[in-house]
Amino acid sequence: MRAVIASGAGGPDVLSVAELPDPEPGPGEVAISVVATAINRADLLQRQGHYPPPPGSSGIIGLECSGTIDAVGPDVTDWSVGDEVCALLAGGGYATKVVVPAGQVMPVPAGVDLVSAAALPEVACTVWSNVFMIAALRPGENILVHGGAGGIGTFAIQLAAANGSRVLTTGGTPEKLAACADLGADVTINYRDEDFVAVVKEQTDGHGADVILDNMGAKYLGRNVDALATEGRLVIIGMQGGTRGELDISTLLRKRGAVVATSLRARPVADKAAICASVVEHVWPLVADGRVRPIVHGTMPLEEARAAHELMESGDHMGKILLTT
Ligand SMILES: NC(=O)c1ccc[n+]([C@@H]2O[C@H](COP(=O)([O-])OP(=O)(O)OC[C@H]3O[C@@H](n4cnc5c(N)ncnc54)[C@H](OP(=O)(O)O)[C@@H]3O)[C@@H](O)[C@H]2O)c1
Repeated sequence: MRAVIASGAGGPDVLSVAELPDPEPGPGEVAISVVATAINRADLLQRQGHYPPPPGSSGIIGLECSGTIDAVGPDVTDWSVGDEVCALLAGGGYATKVVVPAGQVMPVPAGVDLVSAAALPEVACTVWSNVFMIAALRPGENILVHGGAGGIGTFAIQLAAANGSRVLTTGGTPEKLAACADLGADVTINYRDEDFVAVVKEQTDGHGADVILDNMGAKYLGRNVDALATEGRLVIIGMQGGTRGELDISTLLRKRGAVVATSLRARPVADKAAICASVVEHVWPLVADGRVRPIVHGTMPLEEARAAHELMESGDHMGKILLTT
């Protein structure tokens, strides 16, 4: 197979394409002939040497893909050779072949082309598991989505709006915030020159945010707790603003608030299978009827993984960046 390899930890220029042996599916696994994969922020950290793959996973970067089933391992009955699928991976996506536990494979939602389907597994599984399975966002509640123009953010806005929530979101430019509004955000906040706590309070008549999906970590911890409603749930999924913050327990206590932090990649295979099954049941119908769609910034060949990483690092993208094989 062809795969993107890293010559060492470093900048985008460590990436290049090489020929490697095809992986073979073991019991409970399938091999996928990859048509497309997508760039995730975690890929940048892995390339820099800060985010090693979980034990037993491929050392090749890449947390999701779309393609066709190429081979099935012993005991796999759910999938057949030739099925068009997308999959949540612990690694190995930047390649023309990948092996994955069968439970992390999902059908391509109706109405989505096979390439664009590569934009879905990470965002759908991350947003569904955190916002709906953990934070239990209910119709009629509001949500603050930080970084609404990113891969995660564009999906979270759509999914929350489709499930009957009022969506507030932060972003860095008027153009990106306008695009967030087009996706269903009711309130947009420019994080560069507005105080999101004040805007959330003002826009919710003092109620605060029932759920916050946070990509910033330490930098926003105190302000997020300030912005929470009584019985609000803050779910932290990113550390773009650092890992060590200060939490005012008395504010959290008074609000009976919850702070949760999760990493999808580190979860056991059985958890990921349960999340994928729940996504197929609850999210795919919304994708199939067009209420939620993959937002693709652009598509490049696998050979341009380096340029794709540079683009994500520049922050000039909106939605997902795909690589095709
Ligand atoms: N825990 C998990 O399981 C999991 C899974 C997937 C992703 N993640 C995390 O989720 C985050 C988003 O991932 P992604 O793939 O969507 O990356 P992405 O497309 O690069 O999006 C990054 C977002 O961060 C926003 N941002 C930058 N500075 C900000 C600030 N000061 N305040 C608010 N937002 C700010 C950007 O907004 P502008 O573009 O408007 O500047 C952009 O929307 C990353 O931290 C990633 O590691 C976690």
